[in-house]
Amino acid sequence: MYCVKKINDDLYWVGGSDRRLALFENAYPIPRGISYNSYVMLDEKTVLFDTVDRAITGQFLENVEAVLDGRNLDYIIVNHMEPDHCATLGEIVRRYPDVQVVCNAKTVPIINQFYEFGVDSRAIIVKEGDTLSTGKHNFTFYLAPMVHWPEVMVTYDTTDKVLFSADAFGTFGAMNGNIFADELNFERDWLDDSRRYYSNIVGKYGPSTMTLLKKLATLDIQLLCPLHGPVWRSDINWYVDKYLLWSSYEPEEKSVMIAYGSIYGNTENAANILACRLADQGVKNVVVYDVAVTHPSVLISEAFRCSHLVFASATYNSGIFSSMEHLLMDMKSHNVQNRTVALMENGTWGITAGKKMAEIISQMKNMTILDDMITIKSSVKEDQLTEINAMAEAIVKTL
Ligand code: FEO
Repeated sequence: MYCVKKINDDLYWVGGSDRRLALFENAYPIPRGISYNSYVMLDEKTVLFDTVDRAITGQFLENVEAVLDGRNLDYIIVNHMEPDHCATLGEIVRRYPDVQVVCNAKTVPIINQFYEFGVDSRAIIVKEGDTLSTGKHNFTFYLAPMVHWPEVMVTYDTTDKVLFSADAFGTFGAMNGNIFADELNFERDWLDDSRRYYSNIVGKYGPSTMTLLKKLATLDIQLLCPLHGPVWRSDINWYVDKYLLWSSYEPEEKSVMIAYGSIYGNTENAANILACRLADQGVKNVVVYDVAVTHPSVLISEAFRCSHLVFASATYNSGIFSSMEHLLMDMKSHNVQNRTVALMENGTWGITAGKKMAEIISQMKNMTILDDMITIKSSVKEDQLTEINAMAEAIVKTL
């Protein structure tokens, strides 16, 4: 049975959620599920905005059919050709053979790479600033390359001031009946997943996101319709402000994430002592994570939130503890930058972790590594408490 949500007089949400998928992109845990948003506009012409992941094909097709209520589908606007939004494009074309595909020049070859239905004969190719009228509604298209693929564009309905923002402003998390962000406690229940989504999926492309945000700053956006997560109809600037911080790699908070890789608990002990001394000195919202048990996507997200990062690693196989090495390489891949870093290393013999961590961090942009790395030999001793105190002081001084 169809399950749709009316957004305004002419616009309907026809997407769905997947609460079974363990790993989004086969990489990121999504314990709260994920929604794949798609929208239908009923005007003199009918318009579908993107499709959905194959996991919810049946629900989606029923939704589209129900909203169209016997009408033909005139246009499908393809803002993003990643399979979580295009896996059902072929089926839509098969069911609505007269549909015209509205996309930009970079989208066409990607459609032809995924599909054999031959998009060229039905494509309406749009460029930056081009418009399309469907009767009452007029749409303007803005290219948004690398937010998060090269062909991405966003579509602005100048009539109702609706922005179809593709992956931008999306979040992990299934939709649970309440489709509007103002019906949820977004800051309490969704912000962490939203940051984790941005930082891990789009975070590498901060400059591209900033370019898009500059374009959007000229628009009056009353309704924000992303491809994942809730629709925004109020407090949109609050969310845009988060994106301004994240895309410019500015920390959201002056706070500290301590990530440790510990084999027998001694490195963990040092991390915990440092966390206590930071808290003693007034630092709030300090977080401590065991890199072996916390998924790197959470740590990437926390690195986007916190101004200061501490990495404490045991030496392992003559190098960095493997989960810590994976985290640092992941941070580098996701373009984490502009942070102040402190390092702790541990080992019983042949201690190398600190030097090797510093080598990786030095390859990231604008990272300041504080002097006086702490070296622990097997376990923290009484006389090292002064060193840990001094590290806490050095961090507080630069907060
Ligand atoms: Fe939600 Fe880049 O796909």
